Amino acid sequence: MNVVSSGLEGVCVGDSHISLVDGQAGRLILRGFHLQELGHKSYEEMAQFLWEARSFEACREAPSLEGLGAARVRVAPWIRELLPLGQHLKPIEWLRFALDRLPEGGPADWVAALGMGLALRRNPEAQPDPGLDHVSDIARMALLNWPDGLRRYWLCVAEHGMNASTFTARVVASTQAGQRAALSAALGALQGPLHGGAPGPVLDMLDILQNHPDPSAWLREQLGRGERLMGFGHRIYRVRDPRAEVLRLACQQSPSEDLAERLQFAEKMEKLATDALAEHKPGRVLQTNVEYYTAILLDALGFQRDEFTAVFACGRVLGWLAHVFEQEAEGRLIRPEVRYVGPLPT
Ligand code: ACO
Repeated sequence: MNVVSSGLEGVCVGDSHISLVDGQAGRLILRGFHLQELGHKSYEEMAQFLWEARSFEACREAPSLEGLGAARVRVAPWIRELLPLGQHLKPIEWLRFALDRLPEGGPADWVAALGMGLALRRNPEAQPDPGLDHVSDIARMALLNWPDGLRRYWLCVAEHGMNASTFTARVVASTQAGQRAALSAALGALQGPLHGGAPGPVLDMLDILQNHPDPSAWLREQLGRGERLMGFGHRIYRVRDPRAEVLRLACQQSPSEDLAERLQFAEKMEKLATDALAEHKPGRVLQTNVEYYTAILLDALGFQRDEFTAVFACGRVLGWLAHVFEQEAEGRLIRPEVRYVGPLPT
């Protein structure tokens, strides 16, 4: 039996039709397609694709372009009213705070609320335009200069198997607490630096490396002190995370010259870091994960470091909901056991 400290590594918790994370071959397959084949989709199309009815009837819930636009208009006044109350919160906490305080709604409202929460925090006077697609509208309101970069990022991170936040969402959904409660719990799980909170620290690390006379020595010194290099390592992938390459290519195709320079530097540092990790832990493959190039891309889009996890959540919400629907259709409470290793009464 697995013990508590295993982090449930290798434990399979059920069947799903949504995605396959193939850690040995470095493949991410979403409903029968490689992630790389889906890069042309809009955000709305990705929602319909992930929520597609197979073993459940979620298809009816999938937002059309008009449906999501109308939802942005519906939630905007609520989010705006909540803004002054959430100013002291980190952006990811703010999204949870706002979501928890919305009136009753449906999946399109929850998705719209996260996007609007992100945009209005940056630009409180912005008004949604229901005629635009979700990404273009959020990018416009959030004052971002590269909407296609945001679209590619959100598609890339929309779904990724039974990660910590998705598992959390499914556990909460299994208690019949409702979709909003499931998403709220998932936002909490995503916040930690071992899951969705890594890209801010990735940029901090790159800044240090940029100004260091011997970046390789600095990386080795960190590892020697027992520190983890952010943006590297993964529970499932034993090769480079395929999403890292999708995002690296997206950065490469950006029109920004500043980004081209930044990217070249990041590629050099990636090589130094993976070399240092291989030396430090010869028995464990520690390769680049999605967060490394996420950091470069979100920085280029104009987001602040403390916003990165909130931006991630606005993409991952599509996968969370796909799993919530699947869990609701399954209808069984998730309630595992733990092996008691404490003392017994004498
Ligand atoms: N830097 C240095 N050492 C590492 C790293 C790293 N990035 N990742 C793992 N290790 C080491 C661990 O210290 C451990 O060493 P030990 O056996 O001496 O204790 C060994 O490699 C195995 O690590 P685990 O903790 O078993 O790996 P796990 O599968 O639990 O963790 C995780 C995966 C959390 C992603 C880890 O690699 C990590 O902390 N990475 C840095 C944070 C990060 O990039 N997070 C984003 C992940 S992607 C996402 O969630 C969207």
